[in-house]
Amino acid sequence: MRAVIDPAEQPLRGSIRVPSDKSISHRAVLFAALAHGRSVVRDALDAADVRSSIEAVRALGAAVDVSPGDCGLSLVIDGWGDRGPAAPPHPVDCGNSGTTARLLLGILGGYQVSVTLVGDRSLSGRPMRRVTEPLARMGARFDLSPQGTLPVTVHGGPLVGCNHELTVASAQVKTALLLAGLRATGTTTVREPAPSRDHTERMLPVFGAQVEREDSLTVRVQGLQILRPAEVAVPADPSSAAFLAVAAALVPGSEVVLRDVCLNPTRIAFLDVMRRMGVDLSIAPGPDAGGEPVGDVTVRGGAPLRPADVPPHEVPALIDEVPVLAVLACAAHGATRFRSVGELRVKESDRLDATVHALHAMGAQARVEDDDLVVVGPANLHGAEFSSRGDHRLAMAFAVAGLVASGPVSIDGFEAVAVSYPRFSEDLHALVRG
Ligand code: S3P
Repeated sequence: MRAVIDPAEQPLRGSIRVPSDKSISHRAVLFAALAHGRSVVRDALDAADVRSSIEAVRALGAAVDVSPGDCGLSLVIDGWGDRGPAAPPHPVDCGNSGTTARLLLGILGGYQVSVTLVGDRSLSGRPMRRVTEPLARMGARFDLSPQGTLPVTVHGGPLVGCNHELTVASAQVKTALLLAGLRATGTTTVREPAPSRDHTERMLPVFGAQVEREDSLTVRVQGLQILRPAEVAVPADPSSAAFLAVAAALVPGSEVVLRDVCLNPTRIAFLDVMRRMGVDLSIAPGPDAGGEPVGDVTVRGGAPLRPADVPPHEVPALIDEVPVLAVLACAAHGATRFRSVGELRVKESDRLDATVHALHAMGAQARVEDDDLVVVGPANLHGAEFSSRGDHRLAMAFAVAGLVASGPVSIDGFEAVAVSYPRFSEDLHALVRG
């Protein structure tokens, strides 16, 4: 599907609760599947990625009742608990979802089952050895494609706890190892080079598991812990809010309130960067929900923007927001540098290459220097045609760029937004209409 985004003729105005958080929704579904008994998840994200996790746990023997809720899906999940997962007679399809695939590898590694995971074209090109190699040290076995990608067959069994020193800061890898650690004997410790999102550490205790955090980089679980059922409510996704926040910042006169957003510090470094660039924004914290800080974010448009320097340590806390921050950087006076963002090459698409290509197509200056992305503003963006490359975040980032271009931006493969934000176009139009 092709979408055409016209330049915004008026400021963006209004108040929106963007869809629920993708990372938290995946974890709620997967942890509930592990628990013994009935869990309830309110406001789970209603989008293709979370549907992949729901279908996967169903295929493995959990019962999931899905009904529409106020802000997403209401889920009632009867976990497999003591019974353990059942190996289905066919491969489990993880769709486009790296989180589903990598977390399931950690989960299944600790059970006496052999299960094959498959995914769509994009997911089948993404690296899995970063999960299977440390899990193999704990005792799980895997058959992977020669490229180290899906399809992967996991042969689970008894695991032994290990110390893991990760070379990439990845919440998916960290979570897979901690989930395997819960089924292992002894202690499992994961140390990261920089802090990645910590939803797992926050949510496991809600399901009755003990998690020890030594410092912001090191987390530990004792083995042989059993999850008990829980009730979880999912706040709005800061990564989805980021597209509307940048749109509001770029269009002069805008004022947009993003309600009920997850304000977990490991997720909102994009707001720090926007502030450093000079964006007029305010945050009103509300009561925590399910161990996560939540609040409203108000963004006003049109402030003059400075370039930013984003250091490597900050990158994991804004990794999914780099393409849309690169769009914002086109409006700043000078060179914005995102340092050590090589991980963008192995996301749902090569986001580094795609971002540079799309910005060039619109007349902006952007380049890759080693693993850094450099965007030089200010740019007079013009209309262009390009493809989303099947990547939801690229489709939305470049739709935002279209609002401040001099002509229409046409994006092929726009249906990719269904992965995390199916009603993105409707929400954007509602704000443009005020
Ligand atoms: C996610 C972690 C990040 C992020 C992805 C979701 C998660 O990936 O990019 O969209 O839910 O744990 P990595 O763990 O590969 O950094």
